[in-house]
Parts: sequence; C-alpha cells; structure tokens
Amino acid sequence: MPTLTPRPVILDGDPGHDDAVNILLACSSPELDVLGVTTTYGNVGLERTTHNALVVRELIGAGFPIYPGADRPLVVPRLSAEAVHGESGLDGPDLPTPTRGAERLHAAQFIIDTVRARPGEVTLLPTGPLTNLALALRLAPDIAPKIREVVWMGGSLDTGNWTPSAEFNALCDPHAARIVFECAAETGLKLTMFGLNATHQAIADPARVAAFRQLGTRVGEFTAVLLEFFAGHHRERYGWEGGALHDPMTAAYLIAPALFGVKAMRVDIDTTEGPSAGRTVCDVWKVTGQPPNADVALTVDADGFFALLVERIGRYA
Ligand code: RIB
Ligand code: CA
Repeated sequence: MPTLTPRPVILDGDPGHDDAVNILLACSSPELDVLGVTTTYGNVGLERTTHNALVVRELIGAGFPIYPGADRPLVVPRLSAEAVHGESGLDGPDLPTPTRGAERLHAAQFIIDTVRARPGEVTLLPTGPLTNLALALRLAPDIAPKIREVVWMGGSLDTGNWTPSAEFNALCDPHAARIVFECAAETGLKLTMFGLNATHQAIADPARVAAFRQLGTRVGEFTAVLLEFFAGHHRERYGWEGGALHDPMTAAYLIAPALFGVKAMRVDIDTTEGPSAGRTVCDVWKVTGQPPNADVALTVDADGFFALLVERIGRYA
C-alpha cells in the first residue's frame, strides 16, 4: 500500500458556519496537512472570524497556527452577514473558550513566507473574500507560479445570493477577486472556483443534519447544531429545508475530486459599481475567445459529499 503524502494546505476564511465545517473536514482528513488558517473579515468582522477560528481549533484540539489578515476590502465598503451567521458569526452551538491566541504575523505575509518556503507544494483554500490572497500577490508577485493551486468558494456561474448578480465572497471584494483571476490568466496559476451553482446542490436538510447528530460525539453534535442554525436563513430566503454547505466543497474537492465535475472557462470579475458589481462573468461558451483561467465547478454528488463529511467528522471524539 503506497504511503499517503498529505497535501499541504492553507485555509483562508471568514468563519462562519460553513468555513468552520471546512476546517473540521480538512483537519480530520489524512490526505491534507493544514499548515495554517488565515482569517479575513467577511461573514462578520475580522476580530470575530479570528476568534471563531480559535474556537474551532479549541474544539478539536488542533495545533495549526491562526493568522489574522485583512479587516476590510481593498476599495469598496465592508459588507457583513450577521443575518446569516448571527452576531458571533457562529451562532447556534455553545462555543468553547480558546486557550491559545492567534499569531501576530499578517495572513498575507504567512501565505507569502509559506509558499516561498515550499514552492509548488502549497494549495490555498480561500472560503471568504479574496483580500488576503490579493494582498499576498501584490506584495510578492513571485509567489504566483509557486502556488500549487487555489480552490475558492465564491462567485457563481449564474445568479448571486447577495445581489441578483453577485455572490457574497466575490461582492465583498470584487477588486481582490479581479486580481486573483487576472493573475491566473497571466501566470497560469491553477484556480478552481466553487460557485453557488455548485454549492446550492448540497443542502444540509434535516436527514443530513441528523446523520451528524447520530455520530453521538461532541463534534458531531456541534456540527448538527451549527447546521440547524445555518438552516434558518436558507429556509426564510429560499424556502429550503437546510443551509447550502458551501465552503467544505473546497477541501472535499482535494480529498475526493470524483464527487465533482468542473469545466475550464474564462472568468472575469465585474468591478463596476452598477447592478452587476461583483459578478463572476463565466464565459461558458467561449464567446470571448479568451483562454480559460479557471476550472468552474458544475456538478456535485451531494450524497457522496455529505457521506464524506459525516465519515470524516465522525473521526473526532
Ligand atoms: O456566499 C457563500 C459564502 O459567503 C460562504 O463562504 C459563506 O461562508 C460566506 O462567506
Ligand atoms: Ca466563508
């Protein structure tokens, strides 16, 4: 049996219920080696997203370092999503009190230093606005060809969730997203986008939530309560039976790529201030003649995705 070499990853997010589940999935999977978690404003402010990353680390007794990053977008005013995630950003379950703090090094510098130290090895999994990655690329353009891959939860092939055109992570910082997607076009940076067209195929309905609870473990119950809170916004907004489990698709894609179907295409970001601001403009039919700069997720084996999540989260006590 060949020995498995874990794939080094940095999770960059705005926990946030689904970001938290992505951390749980990544840290329970031997296929991945979580080098660090970098945090950004997004669902809630930076202080709270950072605290929430500390909470998740405490919950599972993990050792990864946490590096706070951007507290605001590059240009546009900051948005936030307390309506979805609650005031704390992780409303629902009782939250353990962190016994360790975050690092002082900025997230962007951690990304730069880590990628430079391990050229070609590190995969970045951003699940919030792309401000930290954009800052890193502007501070150190040399890292672009040294990044193994970026798998981003954000954007959408079609409709948005924060405006009719834009998904939340993209709309939070369209200029940052533009920097990342243009870098992919210019340097060949391997970029995969899990947009709403994919993540809305994975609804954590009551039967799927019950599977986490039936694990009979502390972390299983934590996940079930998280998802039950997360369902509230989706029930009101969309009439669905549960929340769309967006962010864990990034780690799942590395662990079990056969669960997903992607298509290479050109993606550009609308940085105008009109009704299409923040839209990820996906050239599905190659009408621009522009070469592809991203793999865009189109299909999801939702049952397989949730089975993986339950099995991996079942590995915690
Ligand atoms: O639009 C969904 C995305 O926005 C998810 O990453 C969620 O956590 C929020 O950041
Ligand atoms: Ca997120």
